Amino acid sequence: MILVTGGAGYIGSHCVRELKERNIDVVVYDNLSTGHVESIAEGVPFIKGDIFDVELLRSTIRKYNVDSVIHFAAYSLVGESMSNPAKYYHNNVAGTLSLLDAMTKEGVKYLVFSSSAATYGDTGEGLITEESPQRPTSVYGQTKLMMEQFMQDYDKAYGLKYVALRYFNAAGAHASGEIGEAHNPETHLIPIILQVANGTRDHIGIFDEDYPTPDGTCIRDYIHITDLADAHIRALDYLKAGGRSTHYNLGNGNGFSVKEVIDVTERVTGIKIKRAIEPRRPGDPATLVASSEKIKRELGWKPRYDSLESIISSAWKWHSTHPHGYEK
Ligand code: UFG
Repeated sequence: MILVTGGAGYIGSHCVRELKERNIDVVVYDNLSTGHVESIAEGVPFIKGDIFDVELLRSTIRKYNVDSVIHFAAYSLVGESMSNPAKYYHNNVAGTLSLLDAMTKEGVKYLVFSSSAATYGDTGEGLITEESPQRPTSVYGQTKLMMEQFMQDYDKAYGLKYVALRYFNAAGAHASGEIGEAHNPETHLIPIILQVANGTRDHIGIFDEDYPTPDGTCIRDYIHITDLADAHIRALDYLKAGGRSTHYNLGNGNGFSVKEVIDVTERVTGIKIKRAIEPRRPGDPATLVASSEKIKRELGWKPRYDSLESIISSAWKWHSTHPHGYEK
């Protein structure tokens, strides 16, 4: 049985769907501070609990015979992490220690963990590999890097086997259109553009056009949520087959500027997107594009959604039918 912390969140709920579709047993653990109970796949046991509640984590592990954990429960907004670092160090770093404490005490050895491209910061490199220097430019990225670092020590001391997946920009929605991205407030680029398209927002603010990129706007590597989910399952299989702890980048290897993402969205939706240039957001690196060769080579992972059009069109299926997310 797999325990999924943060299983009611955007990435967690899509991973739970994928596990369920493959008949893999899973229990969701989430405090619903940002997650949505409606997003949890039918028939999946759900424990409303906090990551700091070691006793509840331990009793859940025992009750469901949990042998591995996929850990999504974390705050993930780069901008907010700069203005409220205490929230991020407390929840992401101390919260993960609490989970590891429960796992160690109950003898759970396998962990797949959401790390981030934000651990690299502004590398100035074309394609970022796992060997690129990790120098986060945001508190959020710093928390993820700290989590990676202390997992290494838990491996050495307690034999924890982990895979850290460094996602680039997670985007898109489940093919059914039944679940998708719904943050409040929303800060991510693609959902904000699609809110302009579905009429719930007036315009998209482009955070500066003076970055050292061809059109002056930031470049990111967008990766579909279902492809991310698939990587988690492969990572867990790898660990259970005796694999050593490691880390992998997850992206499509293609960078798109903010303006290009808006243009592609106009083509996919057929709707003109109103835009305005706004000041920079603190903590944003100019360019983040992944080399995902390592996970392709070692785990046979391959993205199914390998074009920005296909990613945005799956997100549009969700945003066009759920203009207010999970709210009725
Ligand atoms: N952007 C805008 N206007 C907006 C929102 C975003 O111009 O209204 C720009 C941002 O400045 C950035 C790009 O669009 O250049 C993408 O921004 P997102 O907020 O969608 O994503 P981020 O790149 O900031 O961060 C996301 C996740 C992080 C993760 C990071 C890794 O939120 O958790 O990807 O690349 F660490």
